[in-house]
Amino acid sequence: MQITTNIYYGDSKDQLKLLSDNSIDLIVTSPPYADQRKNTYGGIHPDKYVNWFLPISEQLLRVLKPTGTFILNIKEKVVNGERSIYVMELIIEMRKQGWLWTEEFIWHKKNCYPGKWPNRFRDAWERLLQFNKEKKFKMYQEEVMVPMGNWANSRLKNLSATDKTRAASKAGSGFGKNISNWTNRNKAYPTNVLHLATECNNKNHSAAFPEGLPEWFIKLFTKESDTVLDPFMGSGTTLVVANRMKRNSIGIDVVSEYCEAARKQLNLAELSFFEKKVEYEKSEPEGPIAIGLPRGLQINFQRQIEI
Ligand SMILES: C[S@@+](CC[C@H](N)C(=O)[O-])C[C@H]1O[C@@H](n2cnc3c(N)ncnc32)[C@H](O)[C@@H]1O
Repeated sequence: MQITTNIYYGDSKDQLKLLSDNSIDLIVTSPPYADQRKNTYGGIHPDKYVNWFLPISEQLLRVLKPTGTFILNIKEKVVNGERSIYVMELIIEMRKQGWLWTEEFIWHKKNCYPGKWPNRFRDAWERLLQFNKEKKFKMYQEEVMVPMGNWANSRLKNLSATDKTRAASKAGSGFGKNISNWTNRNKAYPTNVLHLATECNNKNHSAAFPEGLPEWFIKLFTKESDTVLDPFMGSGTTLVVANRMKRNSIGIDVVSEYCEAARKQLNLAELSFFEKKVEYEKSEPEGPIAIGLPRGLQINFQRQIEI
């Protein structure tokens, strides 16, 4: 099996044009939030955010396979005491662009910032919006099943007569359940809430994903040898995890230091996880010149490995 890892340095709006149509199985990314982190890697005004993002999401729609999934980690901030609505506007505009908004997961940040505000509490969650091109997409639910824990030992050991038949909901919802279906099982399907601590130890980036976040979606939506894309790669967490899970990956970032840090980190991942290094190269690809960007600014790191 051959696994390829690619890093493109530059603006995603341009770099994505180098990728082929319908070539990506999963996009997992966290773009810069409106006006946040101005001092590290720039911010976009909330009023301009949708117009800034749409040319990028248009490219993402082109490169994603019809069976693929796009997970967008984003959260609107508070401006003058009110939540911005640019994320909602973005969802509406992306639907017009051709995306289906299929699900919203919540990332519950187990270690959110401490603090006190007069009119709100600590912000402990972020959105993980799921978009697809088609209603039928690849999803491997068994890969993310969770242990049932004590429930399996306590509740399922003492089944009543009602538990053994399909009982209608007492609340009159029209739904029903047969508890005995769960005997002899020790795993259940998870909810759409992910409980993960934020990453505090990544010295290369101020907003790095915890590895568990891309890992969960890579398990849920891809198989080995599939291709994962992070168009706002930062320190390269998505690529490192994809690499470890034997998925091809592509990362793009507009800050050269982040590209370099990700490249270094991937070298380490390679040494620790793969048996044989076939090729490593640092090159200036022909592609960026074709779309009119100055040669000196482009770096493409590529590696192919046999595993
Ligand atoms: C929230 S961070 C991503 C962090 C990443 N998930 C990680 O684990 O390190 C967003 C990244 O997007 C990059 N970025 C901002 N604008 C960009 C653009 N137009 N094209 C590509 N990357 C961009 C920033 O440099 C920053 O590293």
